[in-house]
Amino acid sequence: MPTPVTLIPGDGIGPSIAEATVRILAAAGAEIEWDRQVAGMAGVARWNDPIPEATLDSIRRTRVALKGPLETPVGEGFRSINVALRKTFDLYANVRPAYTIVPGRFADIDIVLVRENTEGLYIGVEHYVRIGDDPKAAAESVAIITRHGSERIVRYAFEYALAHGRKKVTLVHKANILKFSQGLFLDVGRMVAREFEGRVQFEERIIDAMAMHLVMRPEQFDVVVTTNLFGDILSDEVSGLVGGLGLAPGANIGANAAIFEAVHGTAPDIAGKNVANPGALVLAACMMLEHLGDGTRAQRIRHAFEGTIRAGTVLTRDLGGTAGTDEFTDAVIAALG
Ligand code: NAI
Repeated sequence: MPTPVTLIPGDGIGPSIAEATVRILAAAGAEIEWDRQVAGMAGVARWNDPIPEATLDSIRRTRVALKGPLETPVGEGFRSINVALRKTFDLYANVRPAYTIVPGRFADIDIVLVRENTEGLYIGVEHYVRIGDDPKAAAESVAIITRHGSERIVRYAFEYALAHGRKKVTLVHKANILKFSQGLFLDVGRMVAREFEGRVQFEERIIDAMAMHLVMRPEQFDVVVTTNLFGDILSDEVSGLVGGLGLAPGANIGANAAIFEAVHGTAPDIAGKNVANPGALVLAACMMLEHLGDGTRAQRIRHAFEGTIRAGTVLTRDLGGTAGTDEFTDAVIAALG
């Protein structure tokens, strides 16, 4: 029985890289029944809504989505797409793997960053503070860290480590200064870590030191777990260590749904030119296959993809080649054997 999956091709280069990804998965024999839906500008064009109910209904049904990049319409009245998806499905874990395909400055990076996606400084509770005549004399943003939110994200990181044969979880915090909010995250993290003692190693790093260690000796890190704001920044940092966003997949995981995506945007400068690199979405689809229990096929696709890049003869422009999206996709399919 094919597995139903919601496919949101997205805007800009989205439809082209989504098509490439669908072709590669089909060539690898993945049995998926795509339920094609729209969001972003395509959602506005069809339903006057960047995140249409029909799309949400599809994800409620399939519980798994593969999403291309979306353009958030500018202007009043439109909901933020990513926030709407995160809230609707309580997608609390943002998972961003980054690993070396072609050795550059670093030979052997293999990091999975797990970011808390729903709490912290990003809950959207902000206001100005009037002082005297100045209504905007100051501004306040509230960071909420809960025991429940901290426990489930750290537990997710440890369980991910166990499921993927990884050895160590590094918890990143700033509890030395933010003694209550970050202190709670650290306390809960230590408590969860004790449950995994002897199975997964645990270490703690303060965020500023972590930022430095990541650029000095990133090979030492394995699974990294942290709060929302720190995770937002560190996840782009680790992508940069392995060649930028063009090869960066991401997953947003909740208890009842999971959405897999390319981290980059719609690349309006190259949309419609058949030059986009579909790599990030292909790697996101591999994460999706693993989530669906088809890890062997995910590995096969990754192997073909990495082999094509290492061979270096058919590469898209962002990787230093001259091939178009279609030609690169054909090369990956040929490498599947
Ligand atoms: P972008 O990631 O779209 O583009 C930045 C640069 O990277 C551009 O030069 C682009 O050509 C290049 N690039 C990106 N993906 C590529 C690929 N697969 N292959 C080759 N080159 C690639 O970032 P930008 O320009 O800041 O954002 C454009 C639009 O994308 C905006 O409307 C933004 O809101 C949206 N966006 C959507 C995201 C999502 O849905 N997850 C994430 C980030 C931005």
